[in-house]
Amino acid sequence: MPEPILQVTGLAKDYVVGPTTVNALRGVNVSVEHGACMAIVGESGSGKTTLARLVLGIEPPTAGSMVLQGEELPAKRSRSLRRRLQFVQQNPMSTLNPKRTIFQSVSLPLAVHDLVRRRNMRERVAELLDLVGMSSEYMDRFPSALSGGQRQRIALARALAAEPDCIILDEPTSSLDVSVQARVLELLVGLQKRLNLTYMFITHDLSVVRNIAGRMAVLYRGRIVESGDTIAVFERPRHRYTQMLLSSIPVVSSDEEAHKPDWPWERDIAAGERVSEVGCAFHPRCAYALDICRQDRPELSRVEREHEAACHNPG
Ligand SMILES: Nc1ncnc2c1ncn2[C@@H]1O[C@H](COP(=O)(O)OP(=O)(O)OP(=O)(O)O)[C@@H](O)[C@H]1O
Ligand SMILES: [Mg+2]
Repeated sequence: MPEPILQVTGLAKDYVVGPTTVNALRGVNVSVEHGACMAIVGESGSGKTTLARLVLGIEPPTAGSMVLQGEELPAKRSRSLRRRLQFVQQNPMSTLNPKRTIFQSVSLPLAVHDLVRRRNMRERVAELLDLVGMSSEYMDRFPSALSGGQRQRIALARALAAEPDCIILDEPTSSLDVSVQARVLELLVGLQKRLNLTYMFITHDLSVVRNIAGRMAVLYRGRIVESGDTIAVFERPRHRYTQMLLSSIPVVSSDEEAHKPDWPWERDIAAGERVSEVGCAFHPRCAYALDICRQDRPELSRVEREHEAACHNPG
């Protein structure tokens, strides 16, 4: 078993908004192993970005602990800890300063963390651009001269420049055109294998998970409802919510079609409606809900090797 680089235990985040409290995360455990890709999936509002922000130290958790290579992560991060966890966001413009050239953006982490001598900067930036499939001709251009896909490549080059222990990718292809998405994903997968990178890959799009992640966790309203080996979860989903997600992805092969669970019900109402604080959070949307599901919240428990689910009436 490879060692975990990042281990998150009991992580919780409450946002107080006026008179109400939003429990964005409620006791999440996740571990990301060295050289592996861990996918975090869930619909809008399930807490994915919150998890990323807590891990990155952008916001402090309400409860829980985070450990990076055996070292407890404090709420306030030192420069060196900030280097070790890098963020690639949905919109690359949130990381790229429009007033900085590509060279300036990509070289910033090299300078801040003292990773390369000044006279070798351009050479190293050229190498990083090459890694993400961009010509060094772009070095002196501004982000405004680039396409969305190219900007995301630059954001990735900037993350790689820091030589991080783990890269947290939050919907890295969602803002891109469909035709560009596939190429950026291919690049991400290729780099992960080639450079033995460690990813926490956040997405609402299950169809990309199978090709990219060895393990995955499904978030529903701030809790992990199913997690494990990606193939096990795809082929034998146990939680009804995971089944619903899987039944709604487009399939390309007959093999995939054969494994796709049916979703025979009409209870999939929009997220945000009918929240239950008692019992299983998914029960108002679940056709298989039993009385116990309305009363008792199911805990994550092992359903097979490398596979856990939190469901009283699993499929
Ligand atoms: N700063 C904040 N203040 C108040 N509530 C917040 C804040 N950030 C997030 N939330 C709430 O926390 C919950 C989880 O939000 P989060 O952004 O983590 O979801 P997400 O899974 O990333 O969704 P999406 O797929 O839309 O990006 C949501 O209900 C959201 O409204
Ligand atoms: Mg998000």
